[in-house]
Amino acid sequence: MLGEEPLWCPFGVEQYNIRLTQGTPPNRLEAHMSQTRDHWSSNTGLVLAATGSAIGLGNLWKFPYITWVNDGGAFVLVYLICIAAVGLPIMMAELLIGRRSQKSAVGALKDAAGPAWGLIGGWGVTAGFILLSYYTVIAGWSLFYFAKTVSWTFGSFPEGMVAGDLFNDQVSSAPLQLGLSLAFSAATIGVVYFGVSKGIERVARVFLPILFGILILMLISALGMSGSGEALTFIFRPNFTELEPSSVLEAVGHSFFTLSLGMGAMITYGSYISRKQSVVKASGAIVALDTIIALFATIIMFSVIFSVTGMQQQVDAGEVGAVGMLFVALPELFYTQVPFGVVLGPLFYVLVALAALTSTISLLEVVTSYLIDERGLGRHKATIVSGVAIFVFTIFAALSFTGTPFFSTLEVFQGKAGWFSTADHFVSNWMLPIGGLGITIAVGWFMTRKASESELVDGTEPKWFNYGVWRFFVRFIAPAAVLAIILFVILGRDFS
Ligand code: PFF
Repeated sequence: MLGEEPLWCPFGVEQYNIRLTQGTPPNRLEAHMSQTRDHWSSNTGLVLAATGSAIGLGNLWKFPYITWVNDGGAFVLVYLICIAAVGLPIMMAELLIGRRSQKSAVGALKDAAGPAWGLIGGWGVTAGFILLSYYTVIAGWSLFYFAKTVSWTFGSFPEGMVAGDLFNDQVSSAPLQLGLSLAFSAATIGVVYFGVSKGIERVARVFLPILFGILILMLISALGMSGSGEALTFIFRPNFTELEPSSVLEAVGHSFFTLSLGMGAMITYGSYISRKQSVVKASGAIVALDTIIALFATIIMFSVIFSVTGMQQQVDAGEVGAVGMLFVALPELFYTQVPFGVVLGPLFYVLVALAALTSTISLLEVVTSYLIDERGLGRHKATIVSGVAIFVFTIFAALSFTGTPFFSTLEVFQGKAGWFSTADHFVSNWMLPIGGLGITIAVGWFMTRKASESELVDGTEPKWFNYGVWRFFVRFIAPAAVLAIILFVILGRDFS
């Protein structure tokens, strides 16, 4: 055993051997744990799984909507800057402390910055728990629309159907909402149960290529529509006179959500990286793919909207909100306006479901890995315990729009009725920004320079990477941007 290279060892092979020679029980345990930890089978596996976490409802649902509300062009440019200046450095920070410690959020933050920082990890685990409880409900809607669009494809499109009524009928049906979210939760639990390489990575390897394929098909179809030119101009021609300061903060906030940052998901995924894999390269790939997909989704949706007379006005008038774009306007438009819509309609909801599933998996993994690493549970037990506990709250979220007394009326924040809106308000405004701030401060200010440098500059990094620049952004730019969000929230701004 001595002299043999361990599969993976967080403190280097020489250290590993010295520790084994000394043979103190905790070190043996540590060495044992690091050997048995499940890892991504390759860099591609890591990039696909982490990109799967990042690409989700945030890209397909939230980004197009906030781009619309913030008048396109200039907002998109600001968003791209935020992704590069805030998102990318924090992505590297999260992955690096995961890889270094080979522990999930709580343990990784404790190792990086000191025992007290475990609290920020715990905050992240709680955020993952709460976010998953209502994210599953929206994901469940994609299953409903998939079934509906398939039935239209094989039957016929119900002429005269009011799309808004269809949506309202489904969200107000308690059995349907419970059934859909139960199905989605069960699928999520089923994947996480099998672990990192056999569950999460396998699913990502199959689903992500399908997701990219569907999106490219849709993009081609959308670019052929009459409104595509106008859509591209709207998205890519900046007009700074329309940009408000709060739009900038909305862009920062969204860059956290879309990249799955601020709650330990990327720390957890980073803890399954082996020494041979580069944190910097993986971060660059994940961030680039997530951004491209968000832009593709926006081009597709806006091409449809600009091609249909009267649609733009309806969206502007607020008749079609964030939910409406994806679940009210699009299903009908697919069938009536989009070339090959009868095929693309169901495929689009497959896309939404797959994107959502690879995100819910990562959220459940944050909580499950906490139970495994910090509470000593086995993977199977940890998955079931966390999955079932979260589902109890999903029941609350699923019943939020059904008119059921208490479930639909509970109001903690003014104007936010039901667990769904309450949780969304709390996670988006408070939990993600505070978690993100904590992580940047822990890595930028409390982790030693030597430690972070040795993780990022280890011979695997690409030529464009400059450690000093990264450190500057993590220490100053990212915390300042997140602090600004928190200040605005304190002053009453709502980013949910
Ligand atoms: N990034 C996901 C999206 O854009 O929908 C949401 C998300 C997933 C946030 C996982 C955080 C997370 F840990």
